[in-house]
Amino acid sequence: MAQTEEKRLPRHLAFIMDGNGRWAQERGLSRSAGHRAGAERLREVCYWVLDYGIRHMSVYAFSTENWRRSKQEVNGLMRLIPDFFQRYAAELRELGVTVHFVGDLEELSPSTQKIIEKMRATPPDQPEMDLYICLNYGGRREIVRAVQKALRSPDPLALADQLTEERFRDFLYLPGMPDPDLIVRTAGEQRLSNFWLWQAAYAEFYYSPAYWPDFGQADLAQALETYSHRQRRYGGEKSVDAHH
Ligand code: IPE
Ligand code: IPE
Ligand code: MG
Repeated sequence: MAQTEEKRLPRHLAFIMDGNGRWAQERGLSRSAGHRAGAERLREVCYWVLDYGIRHMSVYAFSTENWRRSKQEVNGLMRLIPDFFQRYAAELRELGVTVHFVGDLEELSPSTQKIIEKMRATPPDQPEMDLYICLNYGGRREIVRAVQKALRSPDPLALADQLTEERFRDFLYLPGMPDPDLIVRTAGEQRLSNFWLWQAAYAEFYYSPAYWPDFGQADLAQALETYSHRQRRYGGEKSVDAHH
């Protein structure tokens, strides 16, 4: 790992945690069991990412489209989310992880909203990493919400004349969050599925065949190694190192 540390790392590493269902199916388990295994894996991945000294990490936990799944699966996920954070909030805080929840949170259960509020009120004393949990998140929904916020500003017509990409960002859920540099999607699917639409404009993509509950330390190392060799040009001619 010492070697990788000297290489260019993403400032913001994002994960589309996919494949919990297939992982469970292959083992004859329920999809909910797959999500539980996926949640435990998320905890471990946090440790590895912290070890690399990566400052921003985001995960796609539940999309605005995931409500289309069976009632049983949705209910299982809606119970798992507050359980997970009740169990691990103190540990994450101890590790210096500041957890931010991103999405339309008012549609989540009261117990989920309660733990979100509690975690917001008790950030770590020594922050090491910002972890963004996308929950009931959709990139298109985020952009629509941003437009709604802009239209509700005191003088929307004046704003219309002045609106730039940078000012538009102020209306997104987390204006201060740096854009993802690397988006890792597990379980072999090669699509964004409505994740970070605005923010992913110049992200690098890495697809791992591993199901999320099996995504291991070596898989992470491989993703970061691959990223370190990518040339990011942002439309220009030469490779630029945007953030280091
Ligand atoms: C990702 O795993 C977790 C969520 C979307 C909540 P999936 O449940 O999508 O797993 P597959 O894609 O069916 O294997
Ligand atoms: C994306 O995975 C959403 C999350 C990981 C939370 P999906 O499994 O929902 O994506 P699709 O349906 O295969 O595109
Ligand atoms: Mg999936």
